[in-house]
Amino acid sequence: MANSIRTIGVCNGGGDCPGLNAVIRAVVRTAKLEYGWRVIGVTNGFNGLIWPEQSHELTFESIRGILPRGGTILGTTNRGNPFAFPVEENGRTVVHDYSGRCIESLKNFGIEGLVVIGGDGTLTIAYEFSKLGVKVVGVPKTIDNDLMATEVTFGFDTALHVATDAIDRLHTTAESHHRVMVIEVMGREAGWIALHSGLAGGADVILIPEIPFTIETVCEAIRQREAHGRSFCLVVVAEGVKLPAQDGLGKPFPKPQPGQVGNAIGFAIREYLKKEVRVTVLGHVQRGGSPSPFDRTLATRFGVSAVDLVARGEYGRMVCLRAGKIESVPLVDAIGSCKLVNPASDYVRAARAVGITFGDRP
Ligand code: F6P
Repeated sequence: MANSIRTIGVCNGGGDCPGLNAVIRAVVRTAKLEYGWRVIGVTNGFNGLIWPEQSHELTFESIRGILPRGGTILGTTNRGNPFAFPVEENGRTVVHDYSGRCIESLKNFGIEGLVVIGGDGTLTIAYEFSKLGVKVVGVPKTIDNDLMATEVTFGFDTALHVATDAIDRLHTTAESHHRVMVIEVMGREAGWIALHSGLAGGADVILIPEIPFTIETVCEAIRQREAHGRSFCLVVVAEGVKLPAQDGLGKPFPKPQPGQVGNAIGFAIREYLKKEVRVTVLGHVQRGGSPSPFDRTLATRFGVSAVDLVARGEYGRMVCLRAGKIESVPLVDAIGSCKLVNPASDYVRAARAVGITFGDRP
């Protein structure tokens, strides 16, 4: 019952994302102003429940001025699964299950509902807690926009602004020097950032995990452009793209480390075309900084709705965006699989229609 609740908690886990602070602010303000509840901020993922002395009450003072701020005032980690927590003991790594300790901390804080903001990994942990009776609600977060049950996640729009701005900047220098510019953007499983920023930035080639490509086809597209008097080319690569087995010269591609896919592709293009190629790995610039107005708004709507779910006792659910409206789905339906780009979607069709190649066909 909403009226009997006195204290709720809020935590975020996994990689940070522009808009996290906007969610936290919305949770605190709604809990206090609408329902008269206290809010405990759980720090560094679930670590603040394993070591509760790290966590603290969030007041109006603690959330003042955080709406436009990137990062998260709670801190975060992507190595903090309390069900399988690695600890160094006597020179070796031992894995502990600290879930019981977390539940104990929730009780000690008097937390009656926990808002968990996260991507697939964090929301899966939230779901595991819900199976143990913890009253959780989820808020979807990732710049990659690859969570199944929501049309959009906050952070994606900000990342797109950063990536599109970078493509715009690379365009002018590419044109001046008659170069191929490869830009690697984030997107571990899905090509949403590459596809949208590539479309918005007028890329010539977009390579995404969902569409297999060959270096020969990419290079043919670059040659075709040259034949039409365009001596430069912009190639946008999602970091999660699956490299073909061989480069254009029949040599096997070595398995690249994270952050090296763009370099591997740039090198293969240079070898094949004997043309000047430069590679930019955009990396965490896409995750930092102030959230866009769209992300601030979406994050605020998600935060408010998450608290409303707690008030209605609708636990084990995640807020989401559907047809522009905030709704909710069972957590279990939101985790475990990725929302991928559909190669038959109108986005891909639009890109092909304006002459962008995905490296799968000329
Ligand atoms: O999931 C979001 C994401 O930005 C991915 O695109 C990227 O692979 C990953 O986080 C990098 O995370 P970190 O460097 O924090 O481990």
